[in-house]
Amino acid sequence: MASFLSSSRSKFSSFMLEFSLFLVLIGAASGQLTPNFYSSSCPNVLSTIQSVVQSAVNNESRMGASLLRLHFHDCFVNGCDGSILLNDTANFTGEQTALPNVNSVRGFDIIDAIKSQVESSCAGVVSCADILAVAARDSVVALGGPSWTVLLGRRDSTTANRSAANTNLPAPSMNLSNLTQLFLDHGFNAQELVVLSGAHTIGVAKCSTFQTRLAQDTNINSTFAASLRATCPSDGSGANNTVPLDKTSTTFDNVYFNDLLTQQGVLHSDQELFSGNATGITDTQVSSYNSNSSTFFTDFANAMQKMGNMSVLTGTSGEIRTSCSRINGASFNSIESKIIDFITTVFDM
Ligand code: HEM
Ligand SMILES: *[C@@H]1O[C@H](CO)[C@@H](O)[C@H](O)[C@H]1NC(C)=O
Ligand SMILES: *[C@@H]1O[C@H](CO)[C@@H](O)[C@H](O)[C@H]1NC(C)=O
Ligand SMILES: *[C@@H]1O[C@H](CO)[C@@H](O)[C@H](O)[C@H]1NC(C)=O
Ligand SMILES: *[C@@H]1O[C@H](CO)[C@@H](O)[C@H](O)[C@H]1NC(C)=O
Ligand SMILES: *[C@@H]1O[C@H](CO)[C@@H](O)[C@H](O)[C@H]1NC(C)=O
Ligand SMILES: *[C@@H]1O[C@H](CO)[C@@H](O)[C@H](O)[C@H]1NC(C)=O
Ligand SMILES: *[C@@H]1O[C@H](CO)[C@@H](O)[C@H](O)[C@H]1NC(C)=O
Ligand SMILES: *[C@@H]1O[C@H](CO)[C@@H](O)[C@H](O)[C@H]1NC(C)=O
Ligand SMILES: *[C@@H]1O[C@H](CO)[C@@H](O)[C@H](O)[C@H]1NC(C)=O
Ligand SMILES: *[C@@H]1O[C@H](CO)[C@@H](O)[C@H](O)[C@H]1NC(C)=O
Ligand SMILES: *[C@@H]1O[C@H](CO)[C@@H](O)[C@H](O)[C@H]1NC(C)=O
Repeated sequence: MASFLSSSRSKFSSFMLEFSLFLVLIGAASGQLTPNFYSSSCPNVLSTIQSVVQSAVNNESRMGASLLRLHFHDCFVNGCDGSILLNDTANFTGEQTALPNVNSVRGFDIIDAIKSQVESSCAGVVSCADILAVAARDSVVALGGPSWTVLLGRRDSTTANRSAANTNLPAPSMNLSNLTQLFLDHGFNAQELVVLSGAHTIGVAKCSTFQTRLAQDTNINSTFAASLRATCPSDGSGANNTVPLDKTSTTFDNVYFNDLLTQQGVLHSDQELFSGNATGITDTQVSSYNSNSSTFFTDFANAMQKMGNMSVLTGTSGEIRTSCSRINGASFNSIESKIIDFITTVFDM
């Protein structure tokens, strides 16, 4: 009796052990992002990305801003799936020519350089969407901002959607209500709108993105407006000239919020976050980040991790692109996905 019990107990526990291993395997194949996703398949990937980003930023500090923005513009449009990296071709229209992106997003050459280094040591393993997420984090760190753990295991899309890019990305002409609604639609509350807008502590904007503000807005410091007009004449001749998005645009700090308090936000959308509404949620948040940069850093890191989670492709969805700017064309890939489909059907996973 006792031996029957103990033998059934050990059978039960060995079943439990196998069952939990099974769950772990399913998790790895189809589930969530994890920090150690590449630790055995591509152990050097993080240091490779970090070193390419660091040299790019050493050469041109703005590149850190450009890479951060690229990740944002990837994630807000159907999730962090590398779709923004796909080039237009004769028979394919991607997101790069959508209004918020065209002649504006940059940094593709850096992502391509990282990808080719990573491919040479671990071919077909690391997704472009993951490279972009890590490069954004490393950019922020390189410019003096906070660090965070980038969860990994995203896969790359085989599609892109230009009209989705046009409707899902915020425009600099938007009012507070538009911004609040758009971020809410993507799962971010008003505080998170403010903290993520703090990304404008680095980088630049073209005159064309805030020109109308110089003629129309009252919520702007007049000394500041005059200095912007010098770079951005009202005849539009300087439409492509750029100005720094904050007073210390090559350092990731909380000065952006001080600029808003003194009506020196560059974009209309920036200044909308602080308009002198004493009880306004965003006004209050701007003041709070202005007085405490460590809460800004902590909240920014959390919001970036949340943004990096948006509608990710995992498991057998999507693909691991060989080149970030085009989908894999080879027929091997469709055979591979048919085999995976067959296995998942047979085992009813
Ligand atoms: C809240 C709504 C937002 C609006 C309306 C907005 C709009 C813009 C515009 C118009 C520019 C200048 C583009 C150009 O001159 O070509 C810009 C630059 C930038 N944006 Fe935003 N953005 C927003 C939120 C964000 C968020 C959430 C992030 C990242 C987390 C971000 C990161 C950046 C960065 C880093 C730059 C500078 C890029 C560079 O210098 O290359 N922005 N943004
Ligand atoms: C360095 O940055 C400049 C722009 O400031 C760019 O034209 C050049 O290609 C960059 N060089 C490298 C090696 O990335
Ligand atoms: C689309 O164009 C590419 C070249 O840009 C070509 O390799 C590919 O076969 C074309 N695909 C279709 C479905 O026509
Ligand atoms: C592309 O995005 C638009 C706007 O969000 C949507 O209406 C459309 O269905 C999408 N197209 C595809 C093929 O998913
Ligand atoms: C913002 O609000 C003003 C009126 O307060 C309106 O004229 C303008 O069209 C709005 N902007 C957008 C992008 O809707
Ligand atoms: C922005 O909000 C206003 C109301 O404040 C609305 O009339 C307008 O359609 C919105 N514009 C966009 C682009 O969402
Ligand atoms: C700004 O750059 C765009 C794209 O390169 C170009 O089409 C446009 O003519 C330029 N505008 C001015 C005023 O230089
Ligand atoms: C306007 O900007 C100037 C510097 O450009 C600053 O000294 C001044 O305090 C600002 N005014 C207000 C009301 O914030
Ligand atoms: C001030 O902010 C509160 C809370 O965010 C909001 O309900 C109210 O409409 C705002 N007032 C104005 C004049 O914008
Ligand atoms: C900033 O806020 C943190 C908590 O988020 C607190 O520990 C710290 O003392 C604050 N620093 C200042 C200067 O108020
Ligand atoms: C992101 O998703 C992972 C699971 O994939 C979860 O553990 C984590 O809490 C999420 N982080 C945020 C900030 O949403
Ligand atoms: C995508 O476009 C960029 C810029 O035009 C170019 O440098 C790159 O080689 C293109 N990628 C492919 C795979 O054609």
